[in-house]
Amino acid sequence: MAMIAKQCPEIPVHVVDLNQPRIDAWNSDQLPIYEPGLDAVVREARGRNLTFSTQVDRAIDESDMIFISVNTPTKTFGIGAGRAANLEFIEKCARQIARNAKGHKIVVEKSTLPVRTAEAVKRILGSEGYGATFDVLSNPEFLAEGTAISDLLDPDRVLIGGESNEAIETLCDVYARWIPRERILTTNLWSSELSKLTANAFLAQRVSSINAISALCEATGADVDEVSRAIGTDSRIGPKFLKASVGFGGSCFQKDILNLVYLCEHFGLRDVAAYWEQVVSMNDYQKRRFSERIVKTMFNTVSDKKIGILGFAFKKDTNDTRESAAIYVCRDLLRERARLAIYDPRVGEQQIRADLAAACTELNGQLTDHERELIQTNVTVVNDSYEAADGAHAVAVMTEWDEFRELDYAKIYQSMHRPAFVFDGRNLLDHEALSELGFEINAIGKCPERRSRN
Ligand SMILES: NC(=O)c1ccc[n+]([C@@H]2O[C@H](COP(=O)([O-])OP(=O)(O)OC[C@H]3O[C@@H](n4cnc5c(N)ncnc54)[C@H](O)[C@@H]3O)[C@@H](O)[C@H]2O)c1
Repeated sequence: MAMIAKQCPEIPVHVVDLNQPRIDAWNSDQLPIYEPGLDAVVREARGRNLTFSTQVDRAIDESDMIFISVNTPTKTFGIGAGRAANLEFIEKCARQIARNAKGHKIVVEKSTLPVRTAEAVKRILGSEGYGATFDVLSNPEFLAEGTAISDLLDPDRVLIGGESNEAIETLCDVYARWIPRERILTTNLWSSELSKLTANAFLAQRVSSINAISALCEATGADVDEVSRAIGTDSRIGPKFLKASVGFGGSCFQKDILNLVYLCEHFGLRDVAAYWEQVVSMNDYQKRRFSERIVKTMFNTVSDKKIGILGFAFKKDTNDTRESAAIYVCRDLLRERARLAIYDPRVGEQQIRADLAAACTELNGQLTDHERELIQTNVTVVNDSYEAADGAHAVAVMTEWDEFRELDYAKIYQSMHRPAFVFDGRNLLDHEALSELGFEINAIGKCPERRSRN
């Protein structure tokens, strides 16, 4: 919305949310999310044609077009728990629109939704009976956190699905102020809703596919980065999204695939559901495999050993930790009674402790006293990488922050116990240089004894 406001100064954009502290943050100098370039975009438009408030009813009344961008998390209860999308917030939002709208409104689904949600949204909008009329469009968001601003400024495509050509054209006209028309694709509602889930499923599938191969590389002496390069030069495959890692994270991939799986099951397509579910299972396997490898390599015990954790966000250039691989690896190591010193340039202590507590709860349905104590006593959140590594038996790279490449590893080596283990969950570091310093390197898809020398 900030980008629309920036690119279309004559269109007033009101961002409304129920969450007052978040809105306060959007109105302050400390935005609630870290995203490179976002500050400047918000600063340019805020106060001119971009406002942030909690006055939801008023914004509905004043707007011609309403984007529903609320959260659609995986259901944690009832039918479809652990798979289906929780559409509670969508429904509440649609009802609030229906109660407050007058005249004609275009309602745009910006949240990622199961196929055919627009049908439910249309019924809800029509059912409150206050006399307003509505067109519903689907306009899924394809930006990636960390590169959101360039993704929005110069997207591969914008997708708009709908039934009314007039409504579709109205939204096309907004994007066409800065995006070439040929990159604005229009489809029917259901294709648009399904395309977002499919895009995320395909992207995650590529990661799980190369991660599956990384396990085989470790067993055989092949090098996963070499394999990626070799297959990525095939123009039918392409080089992007072929980086093996400790596993994908983020709020969307897992949630959207599980949603797809649930939809397939709902329509009786069990084999299709099983096919996509495996993408998530492979990701869980990859995270588990990484923590198991740490324990195994460190003589089958990490109990009371300090391990420096470099990075906690699910990827670089964001402070978002949702579904971050670091959470699950740290949880597993804590259960082995390791002492963790965690550093992330953008994620704070409160978030880290809350994520670890939630991950332990997820495992047993509750947070045991023992786990609470472990999170209290065995986790320290530190201010830089050197502090994380000081006196440690190992460091594990969990997020590919650029600054981790630039560290003085000779200094780090001096401060660590021997053998000084490095577990590179992102294949980020210069492994040859580090081994020459004396580190024992364990990386994804690389067999320590058979490391290649190019
Ligand atoms: N985060 C991403 O990069 C990304 C990318 C593409 C698509 N999406 C999709 O966008 C949607 C939102 O994702 P997010 O990461 O911004 O979620 P989020 O949880 O960070 O934000 C959702 C916001 O909606 C607010 N909200 C909930 N109900 C409301 C209501 N009735 N009225 C007003 N505000 C309400 C919440 O207070 C919250 O601030 C999801 O469907 C997600 O799948 C997200």
